[in-house]
Amino acid sequence: MIVVGTRPEIVKMAPVIRALEEKGLSYVFVHCGQHYDYNMSQSFIEELELPTPDYGFKVKADSPGLQTGRILSLIEGVVKKVEPKVVLVEGDTNGVLASALASVKLGVQVGHVEAGLRSFDLRMPEEYNRRLVDHMSAFLFAPTENARGNLEREGVWGKIFVTGNTVIDAVVQHLPIAERKSSILDKIRFERFALVTAHRAENVDDHDVLEGFVEAFAEAPIPVVYPVHPRTEKRLRRWKMWEKLSLAENVQVLGPVGYFDFLVLMKHCEMLVTDSGGLQEEATAPSIRKPVLVIRLSTERPEAVEAGFVKVVGVEKAGILVAIEQVLKGKGRLPVVSPYGDGTAAQEIVKVVMEEISK
Ligand code: UD1
Ligand code: UDP
Repeated sequence: MIVVGTRPEIVKMAPVIRALEEKGLSYVFVHCGQHYDYNMSQSFIEELELPTPDYGFKVKADSPGLQTGRILSLIEGVVKKVEPKVVLVEGDTNGVLASALASVKLGVQVGHVEAGLRSFDLRMPEEYNRRLVDHMSAFLFAPTENARGNLEREGVWGKIFVTGNTVIDAVVQHLPIAERKSSILDKIRFERFALVTAHRAENVDDHDVLEGFVEAFAEAPIPVVYPVHPRTEKRLRRWKMWEKLSLAENVQVLGPVGYFDFLVLMKHCEMLVTDSGGLQEEATAPSIRKPVLVIRLSTERPEAVEAGFVKVVGVEKAGILVAIEQVLKGKGRLPVVSPYGDGTAAQEIVKVVMEEISK
């Protein structure tokens, strides 16, 4: 059984689903409903040509506990019906925690795709989720040796396999199609631009941090293209920052864009300025290769920092602006190889799953 629930999980599980189909292994596809808007959820299933979920939910809950609890109960019902041999989850969301917990409570083994990431930042809900899921999982698919090291140090009991990250598989499989199909560049007002995203709770739920972001983007020494996450749009409107952002001449505000459009924006931007996790990995794909300024205090993707793609620049306006200037002046060449693998992670994961469930 494959469970997804948010936008990045759909992107990162798509190659696994494709690899399962290539091997003719039967599976049940479940959307736990953490993200529910069309443009955060169904649009990705359609664009990535994934099957309609066998079980699909929409969980609109106004607190993380309720959200986690509802998903736990919904996925328990599905696991009881399906009786899967293994449940695969991806990443570190509340839906992943709930789905893994529902499974192990019914004695079903969990495989954790993207295991072993650690930011060591305990303000992040994701840091709790990923640690807990790693310690519940029978199979841990670590993207890198560094992630394996984190898991070994913590003494997880499941089996660890280093596979690369399936996000690179997704870029390899989809960028050529995206470049054919997307017309997003026709809608962008600027020739050269920085691509910006922000949605981390510890950033956008903090009034002062979000205000600093808005000012930094409006005053940036390069135009900014900014597809806004729904969580962030709600905060921007509540705190009356939406007008300043959307009327700034230097900024083009968009809603969340589809995956193909986003790939094309990444391919054509000068740099990424983001607090996203997945973008730090996608930027290292050989066909994208872009510098990333991470507007956070930490990252769980140190490999991308070591490789020279990512710089963690903090959340202060002044620091963000200086870092953007430095990228614009810099001439350093980025590596041609991604620290997250060569686009075969999903095949590796499916091979392991087939071997393990036939034992
Ligand atoms: C979640 C994950 C985060 C991941 C992100 C991917 C957790 C703790 N966070 O953050 O790790 O990086 O997804 O994008 O699991 N909303 C909508 N429509 C939607 C989805 C969300 O309006 O389709 C709004 C709602 O107001 C909701 C809020 O965004 O309450 C937050 O959504 P939620 O899924 O709880 O967290 P994300 O910020 O999306
Ligand atoms: N993405 C997208 N449209 C957007 C923003 C992001 O398709 O407007 C894709 C992006 O290519 C990546 C994933 O969504 O594959 C990242 O999701 P997000 O940043 O929301 O989550 P995180 O990776 O931080 O968990």
